[in-house]
Amino acid sequence: MKISVESQEPSGVAAELLAVPLATLDTAARLSPRVAAIDRAIGGQIHDVVRSGDFRGRKGESLLLFGKGRGAPRRVLLLGTGDEAKLDLEGARQIAGRAVAGAATRRVRSLAIVLPAARKLRAGEIARVIAEGAVLASYRPDAWKTKRNDAPPAITRVTLLVERAADLRGARDAAALGTTIAECQNVARRLSNEPANALPPAQLASEARRVATEVGLRCRVMDVAELRKRKMGALLGVGQGSTNPPRLVVLEHAPRGARRTVCVVGKGITFDSGGISIKPAGGMHDMKHDMSGAAATVGILRAAALLDLPLHVVGILAAAENMPGGDAYRPGDVLTSMSGQTIEIQNTDAEGRLVLCDAIHYARTHYEPDAIIDLATLTGACVVALGSWTSGLFSNHEALREAIRRAGDAVGERAWPMPMADEHRDEMRSQIADLKNVSGSRDAGASTAAAFLSSFVGDTPWAHLDIAGTAYTSKPGACQPFGATGVGVRLVTEVLQSWPRSGL
Ligand code: BES
Ligand code: MN
Ligand code: ZN
Repeated sequence: MKISVESQEPSGVAAELLAVPLATLDTAARLSPRVAAIDRAIGGQIHDVVRSGDFRGRKGESLLLFGKGRGAPRRVLLLGTGDEAKLDLEGARQIAGRAVAGAATRRVRSLAIVLPAARKLRAGEIARVIAEGAVLASYRPDAWKTKRNDAPPAITRVTLLVERAADLRGARDAAALGTTIAECQNVARRLSNEPANALPPAQLASEARRVATEVGLRCRVMDVAELRKRKMGALLGVGQGSTNPPRLVVLEHAPRGARRTVCVVGKGITFDSGGISIKPAGGMHDMKHDMSGAAATVGILRAAALLDLPLHVVGILAAAENMPGGDAYRPGDVLTSMSGQTIEIQNTDAEGRLVLCDAIHYARTHYEPDAIIDLATLTGACVVALGSWTSGLFSNHEALREAIRRAGDAVGERAWPMPMADEHRDEMRSQIADLKNVSGSRDAGASTAAAFLSSFVGDTPWAHLDIAGTAYTSKPGACQPFGATGVGVRLVTEVLQSWPRSGL
């Protein structure tokens, strides 16, 4: 899908479908000059449907009109946007999603979208989110469908129409940015949606390598022999029950002259059966998404490379499959982590914190970064606390926490600060080893998991995003089919982009 930005009159644009967002109108409302010109080109139909009350511009409302005249757009899709004063970035993103869906169901390949009027948004911001929304909405989780003939054909061309020629350059840059980031988010979604039989740790590693080659990232993959040499006993322990051995993948964006290093660490459990502490059957198939943190990390590093961020960004994927079996680690086992700290296993289903603790220790000691940000589908408790619209945010560093929270609000991937205190750390002390991998109760499960991780970060500024509730969804939206969301890509990319300005 190619996205371009033009400032020509929408009434003359050569696209099979022209999407026209309209805010709430009363029947006496005058159409804006631009919409009035479209209206003239299609014989006054917009005027008619507004006057008659058949179209009011309410949020979610849509109506298809046909143009017959020569040079007139063939199809005009009116999209209600609600109160113009209330239209925000997420609302604008969804308009693009609705336009793409409208084009797809009508089997149209070229689409033009009139950028919506919005009182509180700048032209560049709107162009960015409309591009994002269009790219996100064009993603379908249909990689494994063998019959595509009932699926709509792919939209090949989307033209965004800005009103003022003076806005054209800014809007083009913004749309290009939105396109790139949304494509990176789709890369994360594609990986996360892959079934576990198609994407064991070694395969996840080679997919990461493929992306690295595509965009010019360094890539290093550590196999079991190397993980043993490096004494990553926690990652190895989790992976030992599976016939698909674990991997640690390092992706690196290392621009010349970069003075700051940020490590992004992703949980990459390609399937979480729970291991010997096996999970109940219901919904277990969703645990193919337990590598969503690693998938997001690939997307983030892809964005860092394509946007050529002036930061040294290191992505680390902790990839393993958590399976029961004769070789599996057991409750009661003690693992020695790379840091030297010993961990008593009391539940093999608390595996995410184990693979992360070695990856975090490696990040800290090998790169001595200015900050570590990890993304992990870590706890069901976080889903209970925050549901599926907000990720849990834990940090040992106030400014980093605030930068992440703010970035999340800006890009529409909310993250909410959660507590992590000495009391939570105390809960993770073992009687026979240094740590245990679960606390004694279910209370504050997301916080005790974060507290466990905090034992491996030293005094490095660190933030942990628990994306268990946000990484995949059964509730599709305008820019989001069911399945993987790619959450974290927009959020962390925004954090990295604003790093020089954030004072971190
Ligand atoms: N991958 C799960 C967490 C999860 C739950 C992700 C629901 C997405 C949706 C994690 O490995 C896990 O099993 N956590 C346990 C921890 C418990 C044993 C302390 C949990 O949350 O139940
Ligand atoms: Mn688990
Ligand atoms: Zn897990």
